[in-house]
Formats: sequence, structure tokens, C-alpha cells
Amino acid sequence: MSKDNAPWVRIEKVGQHAGEVVQIRGWLSRMRSSGKIGFLQLRDGSGSIQGVLAKADVGEEIFAKSKGLGQESSLIAWGKVNPDERAPGGYELHLVDVQVIQNAEGYPITPKEHGTDFLMDHRHLWLRSNRQHAILRIRAEIMKGILDWLDDHDFLRVDTPILTPSACEGTTTLFETEYFESKAYLAQSGQLYNEATAMAFGRVYTFGPTFRAEKSKTRRHLMEFWMVEPEIAFCDFEENMVFQEQMLEYVVQRVLERRARELKVLERDTSKLEQIKAPFVRLSYDDAVKLLNEKGVEFQWGGDFGGGDETIIAESFDRPVFVHRFPTAIKAFYMKPDPDRPEVVLGADLLAPEGYGEIIGGGQRVDDLALLEARIKEHNLPPEAYAWYVDLRRYGSVPHSGFGLGLERTVSWLCGLEHVRETIAFPRMLSRLYP
Ligand code: 4AD
Ligand code: MG
Repeated sequence: MSKDNAPWVRIEKVGQHAGEVVQIRGWLSRMRSSGKIGFLQLRDGSGSIQGVLAKADVGEEIFAKSKGLGQESSLIAWGKVNPDERAPGGYELHLVDVQVIQNAEGYPITPKEHGTDFLMDHRHLWLRSNRQHAILRIRAEIMKGILDWLDDHDFLRVDTPILTPSACEGTTTLFETEYFESKAYLAQSGQLYNEATAMAFGRVYTFGPTFRAEKSKTRRHLMEFWMVEPEIAFCDFEENMVFQEQMLEYVVQRVLERRARELKVLERDTSKLEQIKAPFVRLSYDDAVKLLNEKGVEFQWGGDFGGGDETIIAESFDRPVFVHRFPTAIKAFYMKPDPDRPEVVLGADLLAPEGYGEIIGGGQRVDDLALLEARIKEHNLPPEAYAWYVDLRRYGSVPHSGFGLGLERTVSWLCGLEHVRETIAFPRMLSRLYP
């Protein structure tokens, strides 16, 4: 069987070349040999396949050289694609030649168990494992699903700045940087700018990294995380929740359909995800407080929920829960107070099931000029920095709403992970900026 003109094929697609000789360019994840046969587990980023190396086919020299290769050696392998029922991907490669690009020695991540710190220190290498592949592919699918859904519902993507002169989500979690003669902050949210572009385009979204200097060392917090933020003109608080639940239902069902293999690698119980269908539960903050009290949690009206409280609330339902009408005093300056009850806002947090906590924050925005000016003052925010934002209430103000979905928390939930650190290639955490 000749390797001349054998096409370079990604492992994921070898099935399209059954019976042919193909070329695989990748890395050696494992090597076993017994006598005159070697088994090379090859990966190329798209999948994994076992290459069978027989001394009789490739000759003494290639056989000996291949047998000595270390884990993660890079190579090009040529082989015939043979259907094999026992193989996880359904095929095996009968090798006819191997060209070593680099023989890697002493790869630190071995098939034995490693501690989390060790793996995080070697995150740049850990990304090569099956589990990390599954998670990051699901992340990409969630992201693409969101983009497709928004595009199909007439939202225009308008990117917002990362270097900003003012705070969106409170001044306590700002990352500050020098900006020539003045100061700038890394964006905590693109929302304020989205409100400007929503007045220009009606329905918009931004999808990018956001930054919070949160002194929280929890399984849900990162310092740098990705958020998708749709903003909708002429949309009230109730309609805003409908957009959220429909988008999320679409994304969850799409991941189940298109990433079944990855969910299996992660041993995710998918029956829980199959139940994610709109409409989601709507629970007022008042009732959430009652629910906590009934479950024996001492919680006073007026406080904000901690992660544990969110878990208790969410566990009382089989679908995600919108907790709405939080006390005005604990929410951001831009949230619209309920006209019938100004002590609460027309905002909602969406809590994911299974203890994953808040994945979306959103609501209706203050659209009245005088009220917005008053709220900025109450929050001790510098009026000059918000002058442009206030302008939006001066020229054609309309009821409008929007929301922000945290990508990493969503990935963590859909993948069934213990911690958000694995949901992004290089997590930025309270005590980790390396690698
Ligand atoms: O609830 P938040 O703070 O809402 C906003 O930023 C609004 N301006 C969004 C909007 O209405 N356009 O954050 C939204 C979501 C949270 O529900 C959570 O999923 C995620 O962002 N998030 C974090 N994810 C990881 N690490 C952190 N430190 C996060 N902080 C918020
Ligand atoms: Mg929030």
C-alpha cells in the first residue's frame, strides 16, 4: 500500500476514507508495544485513533525508532483506515510509515492522577487531554449557539470597548490602569454602551471578555470572564425574560444534540439538561426569602443571596429560576424601580439548576432622565463620566431591557464541572495569573 499522495486527514474525518491510506499529523498520546507490534495512540486535536505498527510492514528502523518515542512526541503517520468495531471512534490505522518531527522526553502530565495545582501550573499542556478537549468544544458550541440564535432573532453584534472611563457594576471590583494622563478601567460589562447602540439599532449584543477584581475565591468566580449581553429597545422586563429563556433553551438543546460525544467523555447526566425547556420558573425575591426561611435558612429581606442560598432556591425546582424584583438598594444604579413598588427593581437573576447559581443578570433600565440623574448621585458616581449615558434619556428615550449571560458559568453547568477554572483555556483567578 503506497503512502504517495495520501491526503492529510483530520482524525475526526477518517471514516470518509475507509480502506484508503491517509496521512495524520499529530502527537503521540500513548505507546504500547509487544514484540513485533506497536500500538500508537495518536491525537491531532480533532480526535484520537490507534495506529497499529507492525515490524513486518515498516521495517526494523522505523519500528525501533517509533517504539522509543516519548508521550507527546510530534509526528506524521501514514496508514490505512480500517473499520474496527472495538475502536472508540470506529476505526484503526494500519501504519505504513512514521515520520518523527520531535521526540518529546519527560512530558510532565502522565496518565497517573495529578493534583489540581500541578495541572493548573501546566495548563498550557493540560489542554491536550480528552477532558479539556470536551469542555472547550462544548464552550465553543455554546458560544456559536448563542451567536446563531441572536443573529436569527435580528440582533446586531456591536462590540463595546474594554478600556472605559467609568464603572458599570459598582466601583469595588474595578481593574484600574493608567491611560496616559488619566485613568481607565477594564470593562466590567458592555451594558452602558449597549444601551447607546440599542437606541441606534434596536436590538444589539456584545460578546467579549469582561473583568472584575472580585476578592472571591469560589468555584463560580473568575477575574476575566466572557459575557454575552443583548440589549433590546422597546422591551419590558417580562419580555426580556422570554428572550432569555428561549435563547437558553435553544443553546442547551443544541449542545445535547451536537456535543453528545463530549458530554459522554465528561460523564454528564444529560437527563437533567433535557428538561431545560421554556418557560422557566418565575419567583419573586419576596417568595425566595420565604422559601429560604421555610428551609431553615436565616435570611432577612434586603440582603443579597450567597452561593449557598442560590443553590437552595434552585434545588427547589427542576428548571432554571428567575428570581425577580430584588431590593432596589442592593442592585445597580441603572435598574428601573418597579413603578408600583419602588423599593424593588424590575430586574431578575436567572439561577441554573444543580447548584450552579446565577448565570444571567438582567432587567429593565431606568429610562427617565430625572430619575437616572438622581440614581447616579445616590450611588456617588461622577456625573461627568456618565453624561453621554444620561444623554440617551434626553433624545428619544424608550423602555428598554437587556441581560448578561456569563459564559464560563454556563459552560460549567452544562458540562457538570466542579469549578469554573476548567471552562476557559487560561483562567484568571484570585491567586493565579500563570500561565
Ligand atoms: O449580574 P451581572 O453583574 O450583570 C451585569 O454585568 C449586567 N450589566 C449585564 C447586563 O444586563 N447587560 O453579571 C452577569 C453575569 C452573571 O450572571 C454571571 O453569570 C457572570 O456574568 N459573572 C461572572 N462569571 C464569572 N466570574 C465572575 N466574577 C462573574 N461575575 C459575573
Ligand atoms: Mg448579577
